[in-house]
Amino acid sequence: MAGVRLTKKDDGILVLSIDRPEALNALNRGIVDEIDEKIDEIEKDSGARCLILHSDKNFAAGADIKAMAECDEEGAKAFAFSPTYNRLAALRIPTVSAIEGYALGGGMELALATDIRIAGEGAKMGFPEVSLGIFPGAGGTIRAPRLIGAAFAKELIFSGEAVTAERALQMGLVNRVVPDDRVFAEAYRLAGKIARRGPVAVRRAKEVIDRGTAMNVESGIELEAAEWAKLFNTRDQKEGMQAFIAKRKPEFENR
Ligand code: HXC
Repeated sequence: MAGVRLTKKDDGILVLSIDRPEALNALNRGIVDEIDEKIDEIEKDSGARCLILHSDKNFAAGADIKAMAECDEEGAKAFAFSPTYNRLAALRIPTVSAIEGYALGGGMELALATDIRIAGEGAKMGFPEVSLGIFPGAGGTIRAPRLIGAAFAKELIFSGEAVTAERALQMGLVNRVVPDDRVFAEAYRLAGKIARRGPVAVRRAKEVIDRGTAMNVESGIELEAAEWAKLFNTRDQKEGMQAFIAKRKPEFENR
């Protein structure tokens, strides 16, 4: 049975996986609705520190073309994935995509809605939509240019060509490339590192980066200064600095 799994690991690491291998994890309404339900769970989980998106063999080969083929304009709006992807992007904890195999179209857009992308050497990424007479409709035309610049985004979106992990790394589409059999391990290693840092500081850093990139530099710096100073009201700031001075490991309390 196709579906979406949310698994809890140590240290507050959560793993979200799509399980529809017969269609290379292509995304249909049911799968995306399940992702939405899992996001409800993640939002409520006060112990969550980092989310990894990882599916076996293929990250996701895009939206389900067979389910979309006969849509009219209204049907296409109902099929659209952006409300769920926006909720994923707005999660307060950091999110990491671990990409093996194909991440195409709506699958690549899913990865773009996370904070960090790690790809396997054999991964293939891109936006094949123009071959189908459409363009990316779940954040691709908006998030890709902000991430890699308009010129690279236009190259990918206009040509529909899938790129290798190495080329994606050069463009800044992914953060790092590792051997295929190390993708999950590397994402887990990074998630573990994030999970052991001061959780309030990590969450607020994400918020300031995301809000700050939509502002001019002056307003962004003001936001940063105000939020930075507020961290000195937290128990975790006292613990982090006292632990440094005492030459011991900090024990953060998430407050
Ligand atoms: C529905 C898909 C699918 C997809 C693969 N499959 N991708 N079904 N939608 N996006 C199915 C195939 O039909 C096939 O099913 C099975 O998965 C295996 O795929 P093959 O094509 O046989 O595999 P292969 O030859 O290895 O080719 C892999 C591939 C190719 C290059 C990734 O499958 C492909 O081009 N897929 C479509 C990729 C794409 O265009 N994605 C963008 C979609 S539009 P059967 O039953 O025949 O065995 C989009 C818009 C997002 O994402 C907008 C937001 C809503």
